[in-house]
Amino acid sequence: MIRQRLAAAMKTYTVAHLGCGGRGTDHVRALAACKPRLKLAALCDLDSGRLNAASASIGGGPAPYTDVDAMLAKEKPDIFSFCTQPNTRLALVEAGVRHGVKGIVMEKPMALSVQDARTLCRTADKAGVKLVVSHQHKYGKHWQKVREIVASGKLGRVRTIHATSLGWMQHYATHLIDYSMWLNDYSPVVKVAGHIHGRDHFATWESHPSPGYFMGHMVFANGVHGYVECGTFTPEQEPGISFWMNAGATVVGTEGIARVIVGRGWEAVTRDGVFSGHDASFDGVKDSIPLHLEVADWLDDEARLHSCRGELACHGFEVMMAICLSGLEHKPVDLPLSRNDDVTARMLAEVPA
Ligand SMILES: NC(=O)c1ccc[n+]([C@@H]2O[C@H](COP(=O)([O-])OP(=O)(O)OC[C@H]3O[C@@H](n4cnc5c(N)ncnc54)[C@H](O)[C@@H]3O)[C@@H](O)[C@H]2O)c1
Repeated sequence: MIRQRLAAAMKTYTVAHLGCGGRGTDHVRALAACKPRLKLAALCDLDSGRLNAASASIGGGPAPYTDVDAMLAKEKPDIFSFCTQPNTRLALVEAGVRHGVKGIVMEKPMALSVQDARTLCRTADKAGVKLVVSHQHKYGKHWQKVREIVASGKLGRVRTIHATSLGWMQHYATHLIDYSMWLNDYSPVVKVAGHIHGRDHFATWESHPSPGYFMGHMVFANGVHGYVECGTFTPEQEPGISFWMNAGATVVGTEGIARVIVGRGWEAVTRDGVFSGHDASFDGVKDSIPLHLEVADWLDDEARLHSCRGELACHGFEVMMAICLSGLEHKPVDLPLSRNDDVTARMLAEVPA
């Protein structure tokens, strides 16, 4: 009864979404599942075939657009959600701000340079717009379970977190860095050392330019050490799991160990025994529902900070780029970054074949 009354008192926010590719359609389906808290009023894509298919995946309804300004001007949504390639984000955040939205949800990686990532956050911040970046794996049951075990203290004092993916850096590293920070209560990273090798994913077709192998050592302010590894040489989490799902994180404490396997679930050895749950894995739609619902909560109440707010993503992105800078210069790098190198341009120019 109380829950029903609360639901009745809750405000509904309108959402306009842009980008109906593979991942964009996950967002569309997740947004449709957030009814009545969110109303997906409009969809936009330059490609009307993709737009129609995404709309059909939820049984139709949202008004169709092929132009972002036309959509935002007409619909005046509370929230602008977009899912496009990384080089488009700043212009789309500027569009959202120009049209007076209150919240913006976008995909990772938030940019291709630290400068753009910071400009994105500043642009939204100055306009009072709440910015959210889709590091949504952490809503999955397996990630939540490992977080709960770490927080319970049953691993003793956390010493290290080792996060890996076979997928390459720009596709996966900010996920892994964000979840390492989350498992460690968002203690900031203060120093990194990095290795970057191989030009495998610098090809011109690659929208997420990444070294073939990326390995970073992160020192957190609370003394925990993190290791993040993506691409060639990264060990599989488990044989038999598909390429993009063969990722995860292992937390080692003084009295136990707990592990997330993105495509398979979780396992732990704690001071109380041996446990596992192999009934959970990545779900692009299901995990994105709380991502969108938390925007509504944050818009209701400033104090209900979003778990994927831009400020956290910006730190994670800076950590990733600092690791690359360390790899380029063969020396440790302190955070926050005080330099303005365009690290992606330097990698493209300097990483040997
Ligand atoms: N968080 C996750 O788990 C996860 C998973 C997969 C992909 N991603 C990220 O999602 C992002 C997008 O992935 P995708 O595979 O859906 O991309 P995509 O390129 O297939 O789709 C992008 C769509 O946006 C449209 N678009 C681009 N600019 C536009 C504009 N100005 N106006 C209207 N439409 C426009 C394009 O026509 C295209 O249909 C990538 O950055 C990727 O890294 C995240």
